[in-house]
Amino acid sequence: MTLPLVLASIIFIFLAYKLHQRLRFKLPPGPRPWPIVGNLHHIKPVKFRCFAEWAQTYGPIISVWFGSSLDIIVSNTELAKQVLKEHDQQLADRYRSRASARFSRDGQDLIWADYGPHYVKVRKVCTLELFSSKRLEALRPIREDEVTAMVESIFNDCTALQNNGKSVLVRKHLGSVAFNNITRLAFGKRFVNSEGVMDKQGDELKAIVSTGVKIGGSLTMAEHIPWLRWMFPLKEEAFTKNGDRRDRLSRAIMEEHTLARQNSGGAKQHFVDALLTLQDKYDLSEDTIIGLLWDMITAGTDTTAITVEWAMAELIKNPRVQQKAQEELDRVIGFERVMTESDFSNLPYLQSVAKEGLRLHPPTPLMLPHRANANVKIGGYDIPKGSNVHVNVWAIARDPKVWKDPLEFRPERFFEEDVDMKGHDFRLLPFGAGRRVCPGAQLAINLVTSMLGHLLHHFTWTPPEGVKPEDMDMSENPGLVTYMRTPLQAVAIPRLPSQLYKRVAVDI
Ligand code: HEM
Repeated sequence: MTLPLVLASIIFIFLAYKLHQRLRFKLPPGPRPWPIVGNLHHIKPVKFRCFAEWAQTYGPIISVWFGSSLDIIVSNTELAKQVLKEHDQQLADRYRSRASARFSRDGQDLIWADYGPHYVKVRKVCTLELFSSKRLEALRPIREDEVTAMVESIFNDCTALQNNGKSVLVRKHLGSVAFNNITRLAFGKRFVNSEGVMDKQGDELKAIVSTGVKIGGSLTMAEHIPWLRWMFPLKEEAFTKNGDRRDRLSRAIMEEHTLARQNSGGAKQHFVDALLTLQDKYDLSEDTIIGLLWDMITAGTDTTAITVEWAMAELIKNPRVQQKAQEELDRVIGFERVMTESDFSNLPYLQSVAKEGLRLHPPTPLMLPHRANANVKIGGYDIPKGSNVHVNVWAIARDPKVWKDPLEFRPERFFEEDVDMKGHDFRLLPFGAGRRVCPGAQLAINLVTSMLGHLLHHFTWTPPEGVKPEDMDMSENPGLVTYMRTPLQAVAIPRLPSQLYKRVAVDI
């Protein structure tokens, strides 16, 4: 047989198999797929909006073909419950692209691990050890230090002579808090000094993350059409080099911590110390420890900064809400001290502002991709083993069937009816639900609430001169996490005595 004939036969068998699959199952409806590309050419860049539009036409459960792989997207409360509660275990595997498979050593970490004994063990380490209330409390001084550092740097920015009355780039300040908080919590190090200068290890960490994103992003098209992959070969060398860099940096930091523990005789609370001291108890490989530490950086940095940026944009567009939150802060905290996390319980309106921000703008609107490890029925349709399943938590949180005036930013709605956001109420799922629910949810809620509280107590926020609130760009950037398309610029006017704008640094 000649080569073209062999190729034609392989393609024919492959297509016949796919056709058989489609006919065998009663799949959810969706836009008609084309041969080979499926729906790839239909999908708009901001995927969750595109899927929400399709749900209007085809219903709350749809099939979308990414080349030859089938993705199912559900967009209502009832179906989210079926996915994340009733069939939770069968849908708890992860879809791994070639890049995430390489970066996680085929799921040796937590985020990219399939559901199974390894996952259960590592998840237990997270729940019982890393994210226990005791450890969250022990690490609180880091969060408070970083939030006061943010206040100081915004104050310096907006009071600098040349900046008087001009707007600040809000994302820059939020990104620093998120980065410093997560790196200190995970690696026990602040890579940035008080002048804002990054040290060599910090530069290296940032370079590893951005190289990972770059080499991973270059593969997307071929991910979905396996037989096209020869045209987009995995850059084996680049992946290996970046993985080695990551391991070298992590090992150097781990050794520093081991040495410090030997010298001081006691362990600190950071994740790196916790994992090294628990390594034997839980039988954790070095790949797993390194994978977990980097999971925290990738899952916990952008998500927190994005949440606060969107909430601030809403507070600037809705001065009534901003003022009401400030009145609460003034009443509870006053003008002679700064807010701390112990004040949260007396600040119900501030907590609702954070929740309302996460409702309208969940930073991972399609959560992370789950994968079916068995054939499952959802909403009366078949979900074949191996398909990817997404819950459109963005669409659910704006569904007029379950929310009154869903597009309005109105924190008061949570006084009328308390709605849990940590996976118990399927109307509001910014952190997902079920066995893969975000383990960092409480940490994230504390940090987001604290950042918002400080931003509002210390400053009054308005749009840049000449920009009307209704003209602010509230559209999203495409991607797994959803940044604002136009980074938020705003004028910050200090509202407390100047001695309250100093960073309260702690060395832990
Ligand atoms: C506002 C901030 C955050 C939001 C909205 C958020 C949301 C999410 C969502 C939707 C998932 C996927 C759930 C699923 O697959 O069903 C997830 C997973 C995860 N998140 Fe978060 N997250 C946030 C912050 C954090 C932080 C601060 C950390 C850690 C420091 C963290 C660590 C993780 C990890 C390790 C996973 C993977 C869990 C697993 O696969 O079992 N997240 N997060």
